Amino acid sequence: MTDQPKTANAMWGGRFAAGPDAIMEAINASISFDRRLYAQDIRGSRAHAAMLAATGIISSNDAEAIREGLNTVLSEIEAGNFTFRTDLEDIHMNVEARLKDLIGDAAGRLHTARSRNDQVATDFRLWVRDQCDAADAGLRSLIAALLDQAQAGADWVMPGFTHLQTAQPVTWGHHMMAYVEMFGRDLGRFGDARRRMNESPLGAAALAGTGFPIDRQATAKALDFDRPMANSLDAVSDRDFALEFLSAASICAVHLSRLAEELVIWSSAQFRFVAMSDRFSTGSSIMPQKKNPDAAELIRAKIGRILGATVALFTVMKGLPLAYSKDMQEDKEQVFDAADSLMLALAAMTGMMADLSARPDVLEAAASSGFSTATDLADWLVREAGLPFRDAHHVTGALVARAEKAGIDLPDLTLAEMQSVHPAITQAIFEVLGVQNSVASRQSYGGTAPKRVREQIARWRQALA
Ligand code: ARG
Repeated sequence: MTDQPKTANAMWGGRFAAGPDAIMEAINASISFDRRLYAQDIRGSRAHAAMLAATGIISSNDAEAIREGLNTVLSEIEAGNFTFRTDLEDIHMNVEARLKDLIGDAAGRLHTARSRNDQVATDFRLWVRDQCDAADAGLRSLIAALLDQAQAGADWVMPGFTHLQTAQPVTWGHHMMAYVEMFGRDLGRFGDARRRMNESPLGAAALAGTGFPIDRQATAKALDFDRPMANSLDAVSDRDFALEFLSAASICAVHLSRLAEELVIWSSAQFRFVAMSDRFSTGSSIMPQKKNPDAAELIRAKIGRILGATVALFTVMKGLPLAYSKDMQEDKEQVFDAADSLMLALAAMTGMMADLSARPDVLEAAASSGFSTATDLADWLVREAGLPFRDAHHVTGALVARAEKAGIDLPDLTLAEMQSVHPAITQAIFEVLGVQNSVASRQSYGGTAPKRVREQIARWRQALA
């Protein structure tokens, strides 16, 4: 970035005698970050120039010079040979100024029937649309890794928790599939956002449209938008497409964070449910025995940045009068950071889940403790002995108290001990006290039975194919 002499701005300085104060330049310029939009900016300009020629607004010679010049600018930026200038404020004016160096006066015709207001709205929409596609791809990979885990452990029994207290046995596959459902809805949210944002602001010009006979359908089509936006004020004013992206990203980050938290707990020495691969763990510089789940912890933390960006942009937008205000320049860094954080978190989680090895023996032992089949016992009393559920609950509670006092688990009580609490209990009760039987019995739609879980895995594999 080079500092230029303080003369009036070459692009818009017609009415200014002097250049801006250095502080003014610093607060005004966005080139340090919006250079990330260069590809979208050049793509938008190409579409605009081609349309200007097709409608006879500029000559085809000028359009051809612009097209070639823009190609040169693009390759200069991609090769790292481009000098970004702060005095030229943003990516739009940096590209146009370089175009002028390259092709001379024809460059000045590119901005006919266009404003930086519709230009930036177009560039940014294109960028955010790409991020919806990236999130889609990232989520599909993560879901694939979770489906593999679910399939491998469709029968593995583990404790299901409420309040992080052992509740009822569930299957590993069922637990993995819960996340598949969550990330599946995230996929839908990014898809919905993309569909809604896929309209072209280009041609809205500064705010009111233009008197030139432009063809907004043509530019919309060239940029793979479904149609032009119907209201020029709206087109340059709103950033709801970015807010929707950030909202979807925030919800997705919450899901990632919860799974990350489970991995942190499960990989602890106290739980030992899973072993993380070396590729996604780190050591400690002082404690040689340590293997830390740093990737999971960082994924857990990313929601802070992503939600922070979301709140920041909502705050920027609230209370802005129509149409464009410079406040809106503050949209980009937030979205850039949130998108980068999300894509990295998705990739890291996918890697971790692909590498993760669960310990079925530890899972099953944990599932068998903590009176996890107490509900099965109560259900048996309802089903086989005809007790009302409330009474069955009470009898089971008494049995749990007995076992707890003796320091044993429910299946370790003798039949005689059980019958002393309720005479209707028979030997058959021991069938339902085993965790395997417990999970196999929960065949209600959406339940944890391996059979039901396998059906869901098949349904998802088909849906994603
Ligand atoms: N750099 C500006 C932004 O990011 C581009 C639009 C400038 N428009 C204007 N009227 N000053 O929002």
